[in-house]
Amino acid sequence: MVGILVKNPNDQISIIIPTYNESQNILNILKSIKNNLPKNISAQAIVVDDNSPDGTGKIVDDYLKNLKKITDYTIEVIHRKTKDGLGSAILKGIQQAKGDMIVVMDSDFSHPPQIIPKLIDSIKKYECDIAVASRYIKGGKIENWSVKRKLISKFATIIAKKGLGIETKDPMSGFFAFKKNIIKELNIDAIGYKILLEILVKTKNITIKEIPYTFQDRELGSSKLGIKTILDYYKSVWKLYRYGKPLEKQEKRSSVKFLSKAARFYTVGASGFAVNYLVSLSFAGGISDMWYLHANVIGIIASITSNFILNKAWTFGDRDFRLKKTISQYGKFAMFSSLGALVQLGMVYLLVDSAEISYPLALILAVMTAAFGNFVLNKKWTFKEKLVS
Ligand code: GDD
Ligand code: MN
Repeated sequence: MVGILVKNPNDQISIIIPTYNESQNILNILKSIKNNLPKNISAQAIVVDDNSPDGTGKIVDDYLKNLKKITDYTIEVIHRKTKDGLGSAILKGIQQAKGDMIVVMDSDFSHPPQIIPKLIDSIKKYECDIAVASRYIKGGKIENWSVKRKLISKFATIIAKKGLGIETKDPMSGFFAFKKNIIKELNIDAIGYKILLEILVKTKNITIKEIPYTFQDRELGSSKLGIKTILDYYKSVWKLYRYGKPLEKQEKRSSVKFLSKAARFYTVGASGFAVNYLVSLSFAGGISDMWYLHANVIGIIASITSNFILNKAWTFGDRDFRLKKTISQYGKFAMFSSLGALVQLGMVYLLVDSAEISYPLALILAVMTAAFGNFVLNKKWTFKEKLVS
């Protein structure tokens, strides 16, 4: 019987190989990948080169000119103009990938091509969505890294796992395979080196399997890991940490939310003192020679205004500055501020005169009480929040 060979769509894979100054490695790795591909699979290798000064991109172009076309293994190069980082290079490659399954790997032989079939197999056999080549599970290891480099990697891994709640043992791996459709709906930022981490954080309900391998430090060329890479890493972790958590949703305990807003309100109040003081002084002598009481009125208005703006935008996170609404809020805020001043005066008088408490202590108690009252009133009436939510 003559069968018709119909290829399962899963049998087309794309392999993304980012390069920057890998002239000594690139052709060898492309050949080694080809030799290690499983049978019955067609692969598209995509080299993403960032205009490497050592001519890596051109080396591949020249190689392709003389290569006779093999249908089951095609190679193409994406030339980017500038070195925009590993993560975005990989993303660029993914966007051009035709395969339903994608493999991402380095070009410097740190990621042994012999592992590729295992990654592909585990996606097919176990029907998982991502297969991660892992240094940190049983059977995996790192060869020839300095203690310092190992520590940096371990530390970064712990941050990712604890900070972002990741269970994968090696979320910092740059060697992994996945089904392309799992990232279809995602908005990938691709800051820094660690695109896998971003995929792990942003995907939901996916299955992940880790395959052990030995990471070998490169023999040729040099690593691009520098201080910028590390800073970018923390920037991306911070961004991922806040991912899907708008300001209000970050803290669920209502008592904590209430207190943290009260703390902001007090902080703003303290800044208001400074504004009041500085504006009053500068109008009564600094920038004009106003009568000191007039200058003080300007100082008070200035501090109420700055308090209002800071509390609106920062304490209560209300960024709706439409004129009518803002003016009406400002009116209430100013009214409560005056009320607060009256409460403060009355309380100081009572405490000092009737309760015989010392003036400094009475002042502190009165300011705290008035500020707290102001906070509660403004929360409820000016910014229309539930008192405790
Ligand atoms: N296009 C492009 N643009 N490629 C880049 C860039 C860039 O800005 N920076 C690095 N590369 C390429 C390199 O040419 C290499 O193929 C690969 O990305 C990894 O870069 P290395 O500089 O060799 O990285 P490393 O060995 O120090 O760091 C690795 O460590 C991780 C494990 O901790 C990365 O390779 C990760 O993939 C790996 O998971
Ligand atoms: Mn490397």
